[in-house]
Amino acid sequence: MKECCGSHFILNGQLESTGSFNDSLVFKGDSIYEVIRMTKGIPVFFNDHIERLKASLKIQNKKLLADINALRTDILQLTHAEKKKEINIKVVFNYNENESNYLIYYIDSAYPTSEQYNRGVKTILYFAERKDPNAKVLNYRLRSAIHQELANEQAYEAFLVNNDNLITEGSRSNVFFIKNGLLFTAPEDIVLKGITRKYIIQVCNEIGIEVRFECISADDISSCQSSFITGTSPMVLPVCCIDENHFDVSNTIMAELRRYYLKKVEKSLESFIQ
Ligand code: PDD
Repeated sequence: MKECCGSHFILNGQLESTGSFNDSLVFKGDSIYEVIRMTKGIPVFFNDHIERLKASLKIQNKKLLADINALRTDILQLTHAEKKKEINIKVVFNYNENESNYLIYYIDSAYPTSEQYNRGVKTILYFAERKDPNAKVLNYRLRSAIHQELANEQAYEAFLVNNDNLITEGSRSNVFFIKNGLLFTAPEDIVLKGITRKYIIQVCNEIGIEVRFECISADDISSCQSSFITGTSPMVLPVCCIDENHFDVSNTIMAELRRYYLKKVEKSLESFIQ
């Protein structure tokens, strides 16, 4: 699969044609990155993504290659060159020996179908821990291994299980469980602080749903009634099973959270335009 799927991309602030895109600028050395959803051609939760990018750089002790205003201008430049309404873009800060470059480009984006939202998706357990979980660093080896496992099992997402046998997060999403009417999700210091997760927690506070910041043990899955994942592409997506454990996908909380979340998305689009 092609890494850059648009006709143009941004390299260090300059608009380039995709013919000159070089994958090694992303996959060689260290890449700190963000995946931002574009809705109606506008980046969703742009400020949150740039704040998280800065936090990742700090953890990894890397320098900022472009500030928020430059990145904003770059994204506008890319969208003017090629307008795509519903797609993800990737912002990559790459550090390879003495060279550093930043890139912004459209990526191949798959969003869940309405059938997946209605019936839930199949997930599997995967024993792995992300190093520096609060930083969004490209880990090509782990991603590829999980990708292969998901293809073998025909599953949508893998839930990472740490050395204490606790389910922390999805390989590219955050995980929530519903147990006896309460929501459970991992504490933020041991996962990627997902932007979707942040807004779902905000919605829960606003509509009076209690959230417990505790992990569910891999041995304790069967005590939970429902589960869902959150992320830039899936938004709020019910899980129908983890391996052989099946869940109730009819719990209306999930559809309700998605509805409230979409309102926050709309607000964020308005604030980017202003
Ligand atoms: N991944 N946890 C991990 C490990 C992730 O890689 C992601 C996102 C999330 C969800 O974060 P957010 O709600 O901000 O999308 C949680 C992106 C989309 C990716 O690498 O493709």
